[in-house]
Amino acid sequence: MAKPKRRYVCTECGSVASRWQGQCADCGQWNTLVEDAPATVFSTRHDLSAGGRALAFEPLDAPTPPLTRRGTGLAEFDRALGGGLVPGSAILMGGEPGIGKSTLLLQAAAAIARANRQSGAGPVVYVSGEEAAGQIRLRAGRLGLADAPIRLAAATSVRDILTTLHESEPPALLVIDSIQTMHSDTIEGAPGTVSQVRASAFELIRYAKQTGTALVLVGHVTKDGTIAGPRVLEHMVDVVMSFEGERSHQYRILRSLKNRFGAVDEIGVFAMEGAGLTEVANPSLLFLSGREEPVAGSSVFPALEGTRPVLVEVQALIVRLQSGATPRRAVVGWDTGRLAMLLAVLEARCGLSFSSAEVYLNVAGGYRLTDPAADLAVAAALVSALADRPLPLRSIWFGEVSLSGEVRPVAHCGLRLREAAKLGFDLGNGPDASPESVAGLRFTGLATLPRLVDRVMAGA
Ligand code: TYD
Ligand code: MG
Repeated sequence: MAKPKRRYVCTECGSVASRWQGQCADCGQWNTLVEDAPATVFSTRHDLSAGGRALAFEPLDAPTPPLTRRGTGLAEFDRALGGGLVPGSAILMGGEPGIGKSTLLLQAAAAIARANRQSGAGPVVYVSGEEAAGQIRLRAGRLGLADAPIRLAAATSVRDILTTLHESEPPALLVIDSIQTMHSDTIEGAPGTVSQVRASAFELIRYAKQTGTALVLVGHVTKDGTIAGPRVLEHMVDVVMSFEGERSHQYRILRSLKNRFGAVDEIGVFAMEGAGLTEVANPSLLFLSGREEPVAGSSVFPALEGTRPVLVEVQALIVRLQSGATPRRAVVGWDTGRLAMLLAVLEARCGLSFSSAEVYLNVAGGYRLTDPAADLAVAAALVSALADRPLPLRSIWFGEVSLSGEVRPVAHCGLRLREAAKLGFDLGNGPDASPESVAGLRFTGLATLPRLVDRVMAGA
């Protein structure tokens, strides 16, 4: 028999190569190729057009039971999920180590377990491969959850976990913390390798689908935001969620990146406090620094998260370099590539020069901007910092900037302006397509970036 061919899988993008190389040919990441278990040939019959079972096709409008959802006991978690956990679904919960994934899931598991004790719905099982049971009990005690009827186990063998689960009533919720620590003995390799993560997840997801258990797999992400290893899981699960925030800040955002059962535009907002995560039902003012005096380089952006507006402060700092050293560009909370683009547009269309200056951009409060309408707020902060002219204290800025320097219209202008007006802002600056007028707020349309520069120079 021919020796099975070796194959290598990229832990970042999941692409397959036939030989090892330092850099993945598809996504360009370095040192991400790992050896994968060889593909096994199960059948010697190569003609697949015969010998199978005939499928019974079904009409699209055949009767189906309506989708049921169960609340997690945390309204912000339910909101990000699009209304609650769907029985039999698999959720991948990604986030940097230490961000609070275990805390969030322990709190949700406890709430569900308490509710199920009343209603008689299935048990809640929490399996940790990272912490000993004693550690989790300590944490639960600190969070005031020690009395919740959670079935807790410290285990890493998928065979042990599934054997145990098959012996009793299937759980309503099964939390696996984390998928990178799980090990399936049907496959070679250490826990955390692509093939192990995939095989373990496959078995657990199959169990969830068969029994109607809602399954949550915790997955640690790398610093650039991709789910390491578990990236290959994204297509296997129904929902991909990301728990984000800066560890040094209190606020955390739960976002769904993929959801087979609902929209992906709602977020849940939490604050990490001494007694665990508390829900923040009205987050619109969280990401403002609360300053009283106007300062150069700071602008306020009315971001939109699903249906909720959130006002976010964008801060820019520009440091002129004396020597010919390469200037740094450092960004926290926004896309580095997008900053480079905006700087290039400001240089090309407005004649501003950033080439001999270091540019630092920070989004306050550990928030991550993903809304394309943030361009104008970032541009306003950059121009304000460069010119050392503060923007008016109670002004907001939003609009998408194109390569030609135009400020393009964005969605939900009215919603952004109304929320800002409600919170005491009185100057709106956005795309020229003038929205409805909002009481208490003066709106100025800016058709192009040069108009923005004029406005900042004129002291708005
Ligand atoms: P954890 O849930 O262990 O993070 P993850 O599972 O994502 O790795 O959270 C760890 C951090 O949360 C830890 O640095 C301390 C902080 N924390 C609090 O501030 N308050 C609390 O009540 C708890 C349980 C944790
Ligand atoms: Mg953890």
